[in-house]
Amino acid sequence: MAVELPWVEKYRPDSLAEVVGQQETVKRLQSYVKSHNVPNMMFSGPAGVGKTSAAVALAKELFKGEFARNLLELNASDSRGIDVIRGQIKDFARTLAFSADFKIIFLDESDSLTSDAQHALRRTMEKYTKTCRFILSCNYSSRILEPIQSRCVVFRFRPLQPKEMEEKLFEIAKKEKLLLEKKAADAIIYVSMGDMRKAVNILQAASALESKVGEETVYRVSSRAKPKEVKEMISLAMEGKFIEARSMLDTLMYEHGMSGEDVINQVYREIMDSDEKEIAGKTKIALVDIIGEYDFRMVEGANERIQLEAMLAQFMRFKK
Ligand SMILES: Nc1ncnc2c1ncn2[C@@H]1O[C@H](COP(=O)(O)OP(=O)(O)OP(=O)(O)O)[C@@H](O)[C@H]1O
Ligand SMILES: [Mg+2]
Repeated sequence: MAVELPWVEKYRPDSLAEVVGQQETVKRLQSYVKSHNVPNMMFSGPAGVGKTSAAVALAKELFKGEFARNLLELNASDSRGIDVIRGQIKDFARTLAFSADFKIIFLDESDSLTSDAQHALRRTMEKYTKTCRFILSCNYSSRILEPIQSRCVVFRFRPLQPKEMEEKLFEIAKKEKLLLEKKAADAIIYVSMGDMRKAVNILQAASALESKVGEETVYRVSSRAKPKEVKEMISLAMEGKFIEARSMLDTLMYEHGMSGEDVINQVYREIMDSDEKEIAGKTKIALVDIIGEYDFRMVEGANERIQLEAMLAQFMRFKK
């Protein structure tokens, strides 16, 4: 049996035009391609929103057939350290670009470099400025030293909009001859929170279980509860029905396989997303204060199950 390529790779954009969302960024990258003039750049933003895809697509459009030879992809969190990375950069930068004026070095997770390593990187960038352009990818630009930032044009990548994700999901479903229910697509979008990689992975996992992907399967493969279930647990607690709220918690943790962290994050999200009629603003503030406390305790290593129950018990103070 042929091994199936992960869909995130199969459907990685080949061109800048295929990169969804990030319109401003894409437009400017396209203009660089047109003028064959590329500055050093920094792509910052959350996971799975197209940073690597945009860099690879840019290189493909610039270098066409020679793209593989003119692009070096490195990961800064390489455990072998900055010296190995500098060695690779040196080897790559030493030879001239193939039918182009410069080569591109894409350095993923550059915010994982220590400050010393960043200084070393800065010197390396300066040294090869004639033959290479650097694209640094990071989740938080504030973790990058100012002297590096100031040498780069910074592009901020945003979490994808629900509409953008929906289009992409249905496009993939069509190509895979998969029936994707609208509700299931909504569920994938809810769970993945703007992270396209996560969305595509969930779709693939769900498709392995059924050819007509429904809402239930999405929540099952992503170990997430339906918003409705979490909401129900919160309201049960706030109505003072502790035993019922607790049994809902059982369902979330044992049937859906959610971790304590998953549960508390989703509780937080549902409370913040609820409107004034459901939970009044003042109550919301008090609830978030409680959630913060229990989140901290769990991070510190307290028993998740007990902490979550204690949190629900605290919610009972808001019984009307
Ligand atoms: N803007 C987008 N348009 C189309 N597909 C996308 C987009 N963003 C992500 N994807 C899909 O998700 C996969 C992962 O995206 P990518 O590797 O570009 O994310 P990233 O921003 O580099 O994330 P990380 O910070 O984790 O490295 C891609 O292969 C593609 O299938
Ligand atoms: Mg990446």
